[in-house]
Amino acid sequence: MTQQWQGVAAEDLDTIDTATGLRLATRSRRLLGSLLRPQLRGISAAVGLLLADQVALLAGPLLIAVAIDRGIPAALGGRTGPLIWCIAGYAVTGLADALTVSAFLRLSGRIGQDVLLDLRERVFAHVQRLSLAFHERYTSGRVISRLTSDLDSLQEMLDKGLDGFFISLLSIVGIGAMLLVLDVPLGLVALAGFVPLGLLTRWYRRRSQHTYRATRTWIARVIVQFVETMNGIRAVQAYRREPRNASIMDGLSGEFADAETEAFYLVARFTSILRLVGSVCVVLTLLLGGLRVLQGSLTLGVLAAFVLYLRRFYDPLDELAMFANSYASSAAALEKISGLLDERPAVGDPAAPVKLPVPVRGEVVFDGVRFSYGGPEILPQLDLVIPAGHTVALVGATGAGKSTVAKLVARLYDPVAGTVRLDGVDLRSVADADLRRAVVMVTQESFLFAGSVADNIALGAPGASRSEVVAAARAVGADEFITVLPDGYDTDVRKRGARLSAGQRQLVSFARALLADPAVLILDEATSSLDIPSEQAVQAALATVLAGRTALIIAHRLSTVLIADRVLVLADGVVIEDGPPTRLIDDAGPFATLHTAWHTSLT
Ligand SMILES: Nc1ncnc2c1ncn2[C@@H]1O[C@H](COP(=O)(O)OP(=O)(O)OP(=O)(O)O)[C@@H](O)[C@H]1O
Ligand SMILES: [Mg+2]
Repeated sequence: MTQQWQGVAAEDLDTIDTATGLRLATRSRRLLGSLLRPQLRGISAAVGLLLADQVALLAGPLLIAVAIDRGIPAALGGRTGPLIWCIAGYAVTGLADALTVSAFLRLSGRIGQDVLLDLRERVFAHVQRLSLAFHERYTSGRVISRLTSDLDSLQEMLDKGLDGFFISLLSIVGIGAMLLVLDVPLGLVALAGFVPLGLLTRWYRRRSQHTYRATRTWIARVIVQFVETMNGIRAVQAYRREPRNASIMDGLSGEFADAETEAFYLVARFTSILRLVGSVCVVLTLLLGGLRVLQGSLTLGVLAAFVLYLRRFYDPLDELAMFANSYASSAAALEKISGLLDERPAVGDPAAPVKLPVPVRGEVVFDGVRFSYGGPEILPQLDLVIPAGHTVALVGATGAGKSTVAKLVARLYDPVAGTVRLDGVDLRSVADADLRRAVVMVTQESFLFAGSVADNIALGAPGASRSEVVAAARAVGADEFITVLPDGYDTDVRKRGARLSAGQRQLVSFARALLADPAVLILDEATSSLDIPSEQAVQAALATVLAGRTALIIAHRLSTVLIADRVLVLADGVVIEDGPPTRLIDDAGPFATLHTAWHTSLT
């Protein structure tokens, strides 16, 4: 059964050895440190409030001891003063407790939210910057699971766990000290319980780490499968893949449920042993304390205070167990998130960027370029000079490597060897923002964002005026269909441009590229969804669109190719023919064959 979702599995659960575990822990701790550092003042204030609260809480039972041992005998003797003072003091501690606890919870809540906000922003900004290669590998589902379920688990720890942890820790330390002050032998008996508790906690931490790593990984796989199915819902329904998808989902959800159940069993065992140890300690203290009261070496008031303290002593242990649980879960989440934040873009922004000449001329050079996507070599050796202002068409069979060449010019990837240069500057040295301005690629996907048509066109040149937007749309022949939309240029295209046809979307993204006015324009099947009249209209416009800029055109319909200054025929990543289209047709080589085949297909 596991084979079924191997395609989904991207992280291996069983390969985490001790060294890796340590590395993960360091990475998580570094991230946590960087998140908490800006909050240091708030955290100090919160700890101060907690200390004040503990003082108030600790004073309570002490006042009761004094009331029983001194106040009541004095009152029986006719002096009510001490008893009244004790009662008043108790009331004051109660009030102080309420006030400090409220201030603490508000403060810690705000700190928790600030930390999460910071982290959420960091993850989103970081993921947006990572290169295409990362997104092809990591899948959006895993990113979503980092941003949702992993962050949720962190939120739960910050919201509930951390408060409980600090409150419990302080009260345990405070009460422990108080017990020793009240009576040393009895205090030691109560504290002896910590030895088995320490061992128990260590056992729990080891086991839970493994279990929670598993839950984080499985929930990520569930989300990946979900996102994948929803993204491909048309294909899923068209090919009736629902039952198979459902069974994959059942399998993944089952694994997640199993991992979660195991985590719960672990907590159950941990909590029950914890309580047992606590109860045994209380029994022992009562036994010993009772005997000593009978002997007369301990007052009744002190024993009463002891029992009151003890109840408060072991209650927080439950809280600590809860914290240990949410900590283990969020530590696993933090490992995943810090891993994502540690990803470096495969095509990073240069440390010392070189400026492109102004204005960019647009000369593109491939110098001994070799490229692979990590597997087999796609471009074995590519040397190519595209002079500024030239229009070059790339043709060749499906899978020949045309889009790969285009992606290298747009620097969506870096070559494995050799360099790609724009106006003599290695693309690796060009600042990302400069490169995006100089090189624009239009593909057949033509992604539109929810928003108006005008906004989508203006994406290429934020701040462009309405008349510039309309001029760009006119130039590519998009104006005609836009003006008959219900709200014209202000019509909302809906999510992913669902309101428009595929060809209309292409025209919009074509206008967008034109408005961006890049020095190098890449059209990768940019007109493939257009009908013949629209494509002819675009072609007529191409002469103006391409004037004064370098262009790389990839098209299967050769009509577009014929306007190029030069055609490169690519086969298995190698240029097998290179020259002006008319000459290549006369040469009767591979391009002529393609051209004849295309011509017959038209007639
Ligand atoms: N992201 C990727 N990861 C791995 N291999 C890839 C990736 N993209 C493309 N390839 C491989 O690289 C080769 C060239 O692909 P490319 O997209 O450049 O072809 P193409 O000439 O544009 O084809 P088409 O005409 O079908 O668009 C193909 O064999 C393809 O399988
Ligand atoms: Mg392609």
